[in-house]
Amino acid sequence: MSLANALRSGSKDVVGKVADHLSPAVAKFAVCLQPVIADRAEGSYVWTTDGQKHLDMSGGIGVTSTGHCHPRVVKAIQEQAAKFIHAQQNVFTASVPQVALLDKLRDICPEQLTRFFFCNSGSEAVENAIKIARGHTKKQNIIAFENGFHGRTMGAMALTTSKTYYRANFGPLMPGVFIAPYPYCLHCKARQASPSGNDWYTVEPCMPGFRMNYNDRQCCNGPLEAVKWMLTQQSAPSETAAMIIEPILGEGGFLTPPPSYLRGLRELCTQHNILLIIDEVQSGVGRTGKWWGHEHMDGVDADIMTFAKGIGSGFPMAGVATREDTFDGIAAGQLGGTYGGSVLGAAAACATLDVIREEGLLENANERGAQLVKGLMQLQQQFPIIDVRGRGLMVAIEFGGTDGSLSAKYGTAAAITKAAVKRNMLLLSAGARETIRFLPALNVKAEEIDQALNILADCLEEVFGSEAQPATAVA
Ligand SMILES: Cc1ncc(COP(=O)(O)O)c(C=O)c1O
Repeated sequence: MSLANALRSGSKDVVGKVADHLSPAVAKFAVCLQPVIADRAEGSYVWTTDGQKHLDMSGGIGVTSTGHCHPRVVKAIQEQAAKFIHAQQNVFTASVPQVALLDKLRDICPEQLTRFFFCNSGSEAVENAIKIARGHTKKQNIIAFENGFHGRTMGAMALTTSKTYYRANFGPLMPGVFIAPYPYCLHCKARQASPSGNDWYTVEPCMPGFRMNYNDRQCCNGPLEAVKWMLTQQSAPSETAAMIIEPILGEGGFLTPPPSYLRGLRELCTQHNILLIIDEVQSGVGRTGKWWGHEHMDGVDADIMTFAKGIGSGFPMAGVATREDTFDGIAAGQLGGTYGGSVLGAAAACATLDVIREEGLLENANERGAQLVKGLMQLQQQFPIIDVRGRGLMVAIEFGGTDGSLSAKYGTAAAITKAAVKRNMLLLSAGARETIRFLPALNVKAEEIDQALNILADCLEEVFGSEAQPATAVA
């Protein structure tokens, strides 16, 4: 019997057989208990073929910005599919949906970014951003940052240091890459040694109603000093094409650097004629309550910005936005791609941006984010959560040890995500430390956030049990 027929007939072991034909190298985060097959989805919920309904706090890894299958996005894709499925970008100047998308992007992108190149995924956007930077500056080196995640293709992988297994045994990696520190204030030794150190770490995330925001965070300036020395000792400005950085780390653990760090990088780039590439693949398109994550920080202007994930509500769509002159020095034909700038993707993106704007999803991201953070901070009183951080609906918690230390037992985050799956909630971990991230739809409802917090409380109870204690003992 075919796999599809076996699935239809309700055969119990078919899911295992399906898994036998798929690459085992793709990790299956949410289904670590038993394999399941996705069937349908709506808003913040997903149904699997075993009839189970799951609350989705992963948002398809930050993709389903308007929720699963928003009717306006579905309609836009359906109508476009009936008109034109593949208007190849090398053949036409543009397609009708692309023209509309250009208008919408020019409305929401930082004003200096006026040129767009479209592609299909975040990794592809990063690859092209690097090509543009090298092609324009005629320089080779790229400075990337610790804990960063920029994708899985050969170039993007070389810029990725959030975990070793993304690169292990796949080398040699793209040469000309230098990795600089990304501030991790919670674990910063200078902060820990400072008499006022705890003030840095106890400042609340940037949410309405909280005492202090990230903009008030001070930095020890160690990481910025290290970048300056890197330009003196390892990668001369005359050889450095670009720095590429996530304004808020995604896969690396949802860290927000003190704004002075990004401003300092901007100044260094301007001083040395180096391009600043801001990777907004995870933090962009309203995820943080503003259109772009770096807009939370004054004085941080991108020369090149990458976007993907949330722009298409799940339809593959991505792009690179640049300054007017950044393509100078790159000849026609040097960039491209068969499917880049897909009409269906552009239609999905237009509908997505309309929904975000017209249904007030930036406001909702801020309000629901504040609700989520507040609930997580209450759980912090009971469980060893050493940090609640994030902006908008890009929110994470990091666990400490049950002995009050700053390092949780290996596997704590995985145990929580497993406990969540048992209770029908899809949740992701992040980074090399024990961190859980929340990436719900930007139109998530208040009752869905409450539901997520209740389920999480049960998961924490299950995992920490009698060892549960707040993180107040942390030095
Ligand atoms: C910041 C960032 N850049 C790039 C990528 C790669 O995107 P994709 O998986 O679409 O290739 C990701 C994916 O998680 C990301 O978070």
